[in-house]
Amino acid sequence: MTNNGSPGRPTGNEPLGSAELEELCAIIYARTGMVFGESKRYYIERRITDLMEASGAASVRAYVAMLKDDPRAVEPLINSFTVNETYFYREEHQLACLSRSILPDIIRTKKPGDRIRIWSMPCSSGEEPYSIAIWLLENWALVDAYNVEIIGSDIDTAILKQAAEAVYSQRSLSRLPDAVVRRYFEPEQDLPRRLIGDLRESVSFVKANLVDRASLSSLGKFDVIFCRNLLIYFDDAARETAVDNLHDFLAPGGYICLGHTESMTRISGLFEAARFPDAIVYRRAGGA
Ligand SMILES: C[S@@+](CC[C@H](N)C(=O)[O-])C[C@H]1O[C@@H](n2cnc3c(N)ncnc32)[C@H](O)[C@@H]1O
Repeated sequence: MTNNGSPGRPTGNEPLGSAELEELCAIIYARTGMVFGESKRYYIERRITDLMEASGAASVRAYVAMLKDDPRAVEPLINSFTVNETYFYREEHQLACLSRSILPDIIRTKKPGDRIRIWSMPCSSGEEPYSIAIWLLENWALVDAYNVEIIGSDIDTAILKQAAEAVYSQRSLSRLPDAVVRRYFEPEQDLPRRLIGDLRESVSFVKANLVDRASLSSLGKFDVIFCRNLLIYFDDAARETAVDNLHDFLAPGGYICLGHTESMTRISGLFEAARFPDAIVYRRAGGA
């Protein structure tokens, strides 16, 4: 649906004026790195109408003032503006690359029993970190020889709750082989299906904001980071901040997998491209 450039449909008792729209977009950008503007007016208006109703604000101006005064009011705003699209075994070739090329390289400097830390950032409703766990159980013979720790992070607190619940529709599951669904989800026949307890427990979820350094500080270094389909929502400045953070939270010699429309070489010189048979990923130069 398109907007004809008019001042916008009523939100509360008044239309969403350009100045308020700009202020709202500035708040969202400052808190998330995601860029919204006049071209997304329809998307913004729909969300702001619902948010205003839920908050009890009588006007857009009152709602903006509330966002500025009360940091807790910003959380529902962020949660409603995020785009959470994801599904199991998305970009399966990267999972193949993980078990066939990335992990064999990572373990060259580890011994059996050592920890291998994998970060799914952003994880949305959990399909990505759980896919990593399932893939490794199914495809990496050494999975029991190492202590593999998988962490999922996202800025959206509502979606993180869903991730921990791990209940999925057919849409999320459609790329998984039937045998895998039968093995790791219950009940066997009906939908929606819930991931079995052992696998739910194999992933820890932690709220984090990739453009807010302080929110990441407790996470420690990772051997592999999956940062897929987030940088596309950022502008150059936010992308640079995000990539600096990814660099600092990646162990020397560690790897990053981006989404297929994202390319690190266009953003930063901090990583080198690693061309493996299954995928091109990015590596943090060793010792740096
Ligand atoms: C399209 S999903 C990607 C999920 C998964 N990585 C995939 O590729 O299937 C994008 C996610 O980024 C999250 N997000 C947006 N801004 C963020 C930020 N600044 N820090 C962390 N997560 C963010 C959203 O909440 C959303 O769940």
